[in-house]
Amino acid sequence: MRITVIGCGYLGATHAASMAELGHEVLGVETDEARRATLAAGEVPFYEPGLAELLGRHVASGRLRFTGSAAEAADFGDLHFLCVGTPQSASGLGADVSQVDAAIDALAPHLTRPALVVGKSTVPVGTAARLAARLAELAPAGERAELAWNPEFLREGFAIKDTLEPDRLVFGVGSASAERTLRDFYAPMIDAGSPVVVTDFATAELVKVAANAFLATKISFINAVSEICEVTGADVVDLADAIGHDARIGRRFLNAGIGFGGGCLPKDIRAVLHRAGELGVDDAMSFLREIDDINQRRREYVVGLATSMLGDSLIDRRIGVWGAAFKPDSDDVRDSPALWIAGHLQLRGAQVSVYDPRAGESARRVFPTLTYASSALEAATDADLLLHLTEWPEFRELSLDQVGSVARGRRLLDGRNVLDLAAWRAAGWDARGLGRR
Ligand code: UGA
Repeated sequence: MRITVIGCGYLGATHAASMAELGHEVLGVETDEARRATLAAGEVPFYEPGLAELLGRHVASGRLRFTGSAAEAADFGDLHFLCVGTPQSASGLGADVSQVDAAIDALAPHLTRPALVVGKSTVPVGTAARLAARLAELAPAGERAELAWNPEFLREGFAIKDTLEPDRLVFGVGSASAERTLRDFYAPMIDAGSPVVVTDFATAELVKVAANAFLATKISFINAVSEICEVTGADVVDLADAIGHDARIGRRFLNAGIGFGGGCLPKDIRAVLHRAGELGVDDAMSFLREIDDINQRRREYVVGLATSMLGDSLIDRRIGVWGAAFKPDSDDVRDSPALWIAGHLQLRGAQVSVYDPRAGESARRVFPTLTYASSALEAATDADLLLHLTEWPEFRELSLDQVGSVARGRRLLDGRNVLDLAAWRAAGWDARGLGRR
């Protein structure tokens, strides 16, 4: 099929390249000229494993092109995927949907023949119904220009796999023909076993935020339990293993540590909290404020613990930080707990040297005053304390002898609870985790 993908950020670039991989002719619509030029050159302006290769291959094959023109998009395809960003609004907790509105306003006046516009962006419940009416009003094709809502659940670091082998497909539709079009389009995934849930707009919109709110709740739950472990001497990893064996609970997303970050979980819990307030059911989601607070407390706790490990003063103390990205296999530092901690330790007077295998450049743009090292050992050199804050595999493979030979003090704080603390302790380190025995 000939499709367009409107908005070529993380979600859009991945969707566009993955759909080209399935054999579709794809036109990516990107209004940011610099980003468009990068993509058109077959390059990806962020790090996602495998994406640069996939996108480059399909730009070269001609199956994937980019434009800035909504008129060209309307002329090119009959299926338009809306993948623009919906960041937290600058003025509050709600989502800023201005890019979604702008995309519809740009595209709709050019839709002269029947078309299906498929929203994938994460939006406040009620947005799709509003956009459907706007689309029908602005499009020369009238009601034959239809909307569907098809939320995306991809994780950074696994974006291509999650797009090509989704664990579920959700179709929020207003007609049987929209459902048929989506079933045809996604036939390879459906045939391969991805379950489909067909529903209305509001449910489809809510599925996405409910999923992210649940994941955030799971993480903050275990982090709250970790706080109790910290004052009782219990071990949160053993505890998570034990409760995780209960199939009703499950072990995934029960890793206690410095908490969640990124461009999705934090903003989505705030957006749903805000939307519930607008809808007059504030109490329904008010627990998410506590989920956010627990998450924030983890960062503050680590700054306090690091300070106390160094004798309550950070002045002239050197801290090596391993990790800046909000999670491994990503160069994304949006709302990253690792970078937050590094920055706050520096603000309290420490000399902080940060190393991240991929996120050094993006971290430097956000926090230019930190020192950025080009290897884990360089960050550890002369450090009085080492902080492990993003669990890249290379940090688990470091030689303790080498680290010990460059560091000044033998103090380690594992903010992700994945290092072998027993091995570090055996090598003479004061090695601590969060909520660990
Ligand atoms: C999240 C969801 O997992 C995706 O399903 C969703 O599509 C996406 O948001 C989105 O809305 O677009 P992502 O932000 O890529 O994906 O990252 P996650 O893997 O969910 O991790 C989020 C944060 O939670 C990271 O900072 C991670 O370190 C942290 N985390 C995760 C924990 O602290 N503990 C855990 O046990 C798991």
